[in-house]
Amino acid sequence: MKQSSFFTKVVHHKADQSAALNSKATPIYQTSAFTFKDLDDLEKYYEGETSYLYSRERNPNPEELAEGVALLEEGEAGVAAASGMAAIFAGILSVVKPGDHIVAAEDVYGGTHNLLAHELPALGIEVTLTSFHDLESVKGEIRTNTKLLYSESVTNPFLRVEDLNGLKEVAEKNELKVMIDNTFATPYLLRPLHNGADLVVHSATKYLGGHSDATAGVLVGEHSLVEKARKKIVSLGSNLSPFEAWLTYRGTKTLGIRMDKQSKNAKALAEAMQKHADVQKVYYPKGVSSEGNGAIVTVALNESVDMNTFYRALGWIKIVPSLAGVETTVSVPSRTSHRTLTSEDKERFGIDDHVVRISVGIESSEDIIAQLEQAIEASK
Ligand SMILES: Cc1ncc(COP(=O)(O)O)c(C=O)c1O
Repeated sequence: MKQSSFFTKVVHHKADQSAALNSKATPIYQTSAFTFKDLDDLEKYYEGETSYLYSRERNPNPEELAEGVALLEEGEAGVAAASGMAAIFAGILSVVKPGDHIVAAEDVYGGTHNLLAHELPALGIEVTLTSFHDLESVKGEIRTNTKLLYSESVTNPFLRVEDLNGLKEVAEKNELKVMIDNTFATPYLLRPLHNGADLVVHSATKYLGGHSDATAGVLVGEHSLVEKARKKIVSLGSNLSPFEAWLTYRGTKTLGIRMDKQSKNAKALAEAMQKHADVQKVYYPKGVSSEGNGAIVTVALNESVDMNTFYRALGWIKIVPSLAGVETTVSVPSRTSHRTLTSEDKERFGIDDHVVRISVGIESSEDIIAQLEQAIEASK
């Protein structure tokens, strides 16, 4: 067809769109919708013969990420969302409705704590936040309308390792679902679906992506629950963009070698910090997996350390209110991730300005240790 007008040509020019270009990496399907040749072609979508109509509903890049993470977590199905929080919200809504009750660990990530303590109750969903240290206290909070147990496989910032098998037992006896945030451990170290979780969620912004350049979430688990969560994501418009999905999926390719190196570096750092006279306490988990115990080390520095001087002296180790990049970074839970906790809760959990959460990167462990030691030395 002749396209004589500039106004027609400018919108209808297209490069070769053939899918058979054999591109090694998946292209970024940066499109909000897909085209159809005729009504028969459109009907094929509704009959399930073709997959894509509108990107808020499905797009190949978020699908590729979700399938990839489902494979690593060894789950039946997966769905991607715009952030870890969006995936957590959709996952919870796939299990509970107004009037239902959730028992959740009180020491979860601050944003999740806020969702559980404030947003869900405002929607008529009852939530009890309690200590999961002791499964008796979890059992004691179960009511007739309880539907879900929620926790993190390794908690933030004190790295408590959840007793997943114990939770599974409690859940089975009471016919409850279990949802686990596996962000800190990653499927390289731990696959909670093996230990009885029904749903596993990730802030893919962290280790799955691994390069601090994309915000994303992924939910994995039983097919029927994931499909319910997908409907929530579609209705709430909390889908992941193709580009963020593409970046995150690319990051997952190196998850194994990153986690391997970062966990080894973290172990070496935790050992060095344990010997340090100006470190009150080191939090580094044990028994997460035979592959390692993760790449976060939390330290409580002595009162004698001036914290502002310490942060200024850290040089290439920057304060970053996130974690899991390839560079070593530090975060200050009392001022960022756990800022919204009440002062009583902060005191109860021991979160104060001397607590530093270190996200250990892929640099040489000797350099990481030396950099932290000289910063502590400079700030006494
Ligand atoms: C353990 C954990 N879960 C969930 C989230 C929320 O993820 P996002 O920031 O991608 O929404 C975070 C963020 O720091 C986190 O640390």
